[in-house]
Amino acid sequence: MNGIKIRGTGRDVPGRIVTNRDLEKIVDTSDQWITSRTGIQARRHCGEGEHISSITAAAARRALEDACVTPDQIGACIVATATPETLVPSTACSLQRDLGLLQDIPCFDLNAACTGFLFALHTMECLLNASPRKFGLVVGAENLSRVINWEDRGTCILFGDGAGAAVVECREGWPSISAVLGCHGNSELLRLPGPGAEEPCVLSMEGTKVFKFAVEAVPWCVDQVLNRTGRTVEDVDFFVFHQANARIIDLAVRKYHIPAEKYYKNIQEYGNTSAASIPLVLSELRQQGKIGPGSRVLAVGFGGGLTWGGCLIEFA
Ligand code: UT7
Repeated sequence: MNGIKIRGTGRDVPGRIVTNRDLEKIVDTSDQWITSRTGIQARRHCGEGEHISSITAAAARRALEDACVTPDQIGACIVATATPETLVPSTACSLQRDLGLLQDIPCFDLNAACTGFLFALHTMECLLNASPRKFGLVVGAENLSRVINWEDRGTCILFGDGAGAAVVECREGWPSISAVLGCHGNSELLRLPGPGAEEPCVLSMEGTKVFKFAVEAVPWCVDQVLNRTGRTVEDVDFFVFHQANARIIDLAVRKYHIPAEKYYKNIQEYGNTSAASIPLVLSELRQQGKIGPGSRVLAVGFGGGLTWGGCLIEFA
């Protein structure tokens, strides 16, 4: 199988900043508790007139520009999201219309909760191998502020909205991203009921249990990806972890002795943006010049389902 590399990235977040101090006025919490237990200081929430489709389109346009790829060169489009504005049409179909993507290409949403972007990258690699077109558009986008349970201080302080996009290219001879993906088939620990459920559409989570799962899943994914690719920790230029809790990232950093210049956190600014979290980090790193052509990035995600995933992706 031919591999994919990232050619360009883009991101967009809503304008409304919600700080920990703002949340102190809504629920029984404190800036001190949130910062020390999660690392989060603020998050962005969609305001009036802001929707997942608009931030998705803005992020995707920037990624296309960054990659110097035109919409008619895109051979497939996947949006990873668990919070679409409409289930039908999919967010990807709306994006196809907004960007003027070709009509004879697959455009669809994919839901693997917070691991969605990595599931989508793997799916895109498979699709492009079967397509005469060599560029793909992968977006992770969420509007989690719409599904927050404001009576639950254990979850309402965590989540934010945002979108991150990547234009990928598939070429003969490039290594596969060697994705390791999986799920436990768990329907209780992290839950967001859909229209078919007899429950309100609000997010619930047993945080401590999910935390325990995450601290085991992260090293498992890192080890599996290194094993599959025959690489070592030193071969990796940058580690990108799903931004769910700063303490989960710190544990992984300590375990693998990852130096400060090889990992990144933006959870303090955006909170947990689920499927958008990894591409938001990728886009910031690229803009800051910390990763670029030739960089090898090991990305790890985990979340509801319980899903997990890791891959080693290079920049073209
Ligand atoms: O992205 C998908 C994957 N998600 C994750 O990976 C999230 C993983 N889980 C977590 O990040 C953490 O479990 C949380 C941040 C969600 C919670 O932190 P925790 O250290 O596990 O706290 P806890 O739920 O065990 O609660 C400890 C205490 C409780 O009080 P008591 O019973 O000890 O008196 C809670 O009621 O902290 C209390 N608490 C709060 N206090 C102030 C819970 N939420 C808050 C809050 N402010 N917002």
